[in-house]
Amino acid sequence: MSNINLNRRRTLKLGIFAASAGVASTGIAQAVCGDKTPVQPEGPFYPIQDQVDKDNDLVRVTGTSQAPKGDVIVVAGKVLDIDCAPVAGALVEIWQACASGKYNHKNDPNAAELDPNFQYWGQAVTDKDGLYSFRTIIPGAYPADVGWIRPPHIHFKVAKRGYLELITQMYFAGNELNDKDLILKRVKAKDRSKVVIQLKQANPHPIAVFDITLEKP
Ligand SMILES: [Fe+2]
Repeated sequence: MSNINLNRRRTLKLGIFAASAGVASTGIAQAVCGDKTPVQPEGPFYPIQDQVDKDNDLVRVTGTSQAPKGDVIVVAGKVLDIDCAPVAGALVEIWQACASGKYNHKNDPNAAELDPNFQYWGQAVTDKDGLYSFRTIIPGAYPADVGWIRPPHIHFKVAKRGYLELITQMYFAGNELNDKDLILKRVKAKDRSKVVIQLKQANPHPIAVFDITLEKP
């Protein structure tokens, strides 16, 4: 079977998984109509090198049967327009550190170890209902500067022709580093709940429902 077919099969499986975990019934339309997702910096570690395995399952890497370190979660939601209509066919890219807080990027100065069993970045295309999903791990915190530890977060880039490309970051509610983070603090207080997400318990993995609203040019 070709990689493309395998990736498509995995994508379908994860989509169904996300639906069974409650995304379709409870998480959709959490976003407020007309309230776009806050833009945040891309940061220095956007993936610049291609890789064979770039699907939406970051805990399975082609060529290894080992699991990555860290707590497995599902991150899923809907991409919506400003009127809360689903945006189908949007490309959703995520990238993040592994459990040790290290990015697979040549410019990451962190001395922490890379995890060969983690995929580091992946992509998904929203379905007809605007739904995307990823299986990944909770990333580690990492030092950004003297006295500044970035809280666990996942970077997002969402693109669809006819809309402004959105770059943002998703955080985990309850993490004590959130309130001190110099990047998250730049998001207006009233908007922080749009990017700080409470994990919901689900089987077999907790799920973070992160809806994203795009603006038109
Ligand atoms: Fe980051």
